[in-house]
Amino acid sequence: MMIYRSEFICGFLLTSVILCTSKGILEIQPFFFPQSIMEGDRVLGACTTKSGDKSGGQPSFKWSKDGNDLSTRTQVKTFGDFSTIVIDPVSEEDSGNYTCSVTSGGLHDSFTAQLTVMAPSDVNSFSGEFLVINCKASGKPVPTISWMKSEGKGIDGYVAISESEMHRLPQNGSLVIESVRKSDEGIYQC
Ligand SMILES: *[C@@H]1O[C@H](CO)[C@@H](O)[C@H](O)[C@H]1NC(C)=O
Ligand SMILES: *[C@@H]1O[C@H](CO)[C@@H](O)[C@H](O)[C@H]1NC(C)=O
Repeated sequence: MMIYRSEFICGFLLTSVILCTSKGILEIQPFFFPQSIMEGDRVLGACTTKSGDKSGGQPSFKWSKDGNDLSTRTQVKTFGDFSTIVIDPVSEEDSGNYTCSVTSGGLHDSFTAQLTVMAPSDVNSFSGEFLVINCKASGKPVPTISWMKSEGKGIDGYVAISESEMHRLPQNGSLVIESVRKSDEGIYQC
C-alpha cells in the first residue's frame, strides 16, 4: 500500500489568480522481501524515501508488523535517511506484513511489504511409495511455485526439479513423486 501526499500552500492575488507553491512530496521507495525465505535464513528489509527532504530535515522512521510492535528479535538500524530491519535467524512466526512509516517536515508516508517464511518439514518415505510434498507458500498474487533439491548440506548445490516421468508438478504447487527411489533422498525446497 502506498500513501502519496503532497501539500500545497496557496495564496490569492488581488487579480484572483491562485498561486500555489508545493511544500514537497515525501514518498517511500517501494521495497519487497525475497520470495523463498526459509526458516533459519537472514532477512533484510530496507526503507528509504524516493528523494531527500527538500526542507533539510531528518526523516524519522517507524516500523511495525501487522500493525503492532516488531518482535524483540528484529533489529532496527537507522542511518540518516534510510532505515533497515534485520531478522537473523528468521522463523515462521516472523511471517507477516511489515510497515515502514516515515515522517519528515510535516509530511508522512508509509509502505507495507509482506514477508512469507517457509518451514521445512520432514518427510519419511520408503522405496516404491507414492509421495506428495505440499508447499506452504501463500500470498497475493499466488506465487509461482518451483521446486529445488539438494543432496548435500546447506544452500549450495540446489538443483531445479523439472516435470518428468518420476516427478509431477501439479498446478496446486505440490511435488508428486510417483515411486520413491533411493536417489530421491535429499532436502527439498519450494
Ligand atoms: C498481509 O497483507 C495481505 C495483503 O494485503 C493480506 O492478504 C494478509 O492477510 C495480511 N497478513 C496479515 C498477517 O495481516
Ligand atoms: C495437489 O494435487 C495432487 C494431485 O494432482 C494431490 O495429490 C495433492 O494432494 C494436491 N495438494 C494439495 C495441497 O491439495
